[in-house]
Amino acid sequence: MTTDHGTPRPDDAATRTEFWEGVHDSKDVDGVSWWQSVPGLSLGLVDRAGLGLDEPIIDVGAGWSTLVDHLLERGYRDLSAVDLSTTALQTVRDRLGPAGADVVLTMADVLDLRMGRTYALWHDRAVYHFLTEPEERADYLASLERSLHPGGWLVVATFGPDGPTTCSGLPIVRYTHAELAAQFPGYDLIDTAGEDHRTPWGTSQQFTAVLMRRR
Ligand SMILES: C[S@@+](CC[C@H](N)C(=O)[O-])C[C@H]1O[C@@H](n2cnc3c(N)ncnc32)[C@H](O)[C@@H]1O
Repeated sequence: MTTDHGTPRPDDAATRTEFWEGVHDSKDVDGVSWWQSVPGLSLGLVDRAGLGLDEPIIDVGAGWSTLVDHLLERGYRDLSAVDLSTTALQTVRDRLGPAGADVVLTMADVLDLRMGRTYALWHDRAVYHFLTEPEERADYLASLERSLHPGGWLVVATFGPDGPTTCSGLPIVRYTHAELAAQFPGYDLIDTAGEDHRTPWGTSQQFTAVLMRRR
């Protein structure tokens, strides 16, 4: 499978890392289509989960999302974010400054995530949709199962059925709410949400999001 740019799709940890480091290394924060200063869709679903402020939250494939900044502002004290790009994570570290010194930022692959602890809420915006192969989705599920408490919450957002067919030049899978919820057996669907995300250059991207709870 090839990308929009005619290059092979990154399908192992090393090429994925190189690809995503290259994306963040060559662009400004608002130079990527997914940038938003306030992640409203995500925050709405995290709020809906109603976690206590000490309960641990992880954002996977966080990039330079401001989700952790906003959660910190809400008073959450146990925040982690992982990404393949150290450049993206360094941008977040610099942006958070001393107020965010306790936020754990880790360079890791969500397809083989071993944080050595579990979380009360797992958040993913625009990462799951890159998993076009069943083996990748199985690896993601294994990471999720290792990382989430029983009874823990899952917030996942992907491009919707009328959204783009690629993201960052890579092929993606678009999901309806029902299709996305069906990806996570063993989880109950609690709520759904969606948005037409405005890219920094004014185009629109349809997002589908679900809030689920592990049984
Ligand atoms: C489309 S961006 C979304 C970023 C962020 N979630 C947001 O909403 O702004 C996808 C992000 O996932 C990261 N990523 C892609 N594949 C990954 C993987 N297998 N493990 C960890 N991070 C990954 C990329 O580096 C990038 O930051």
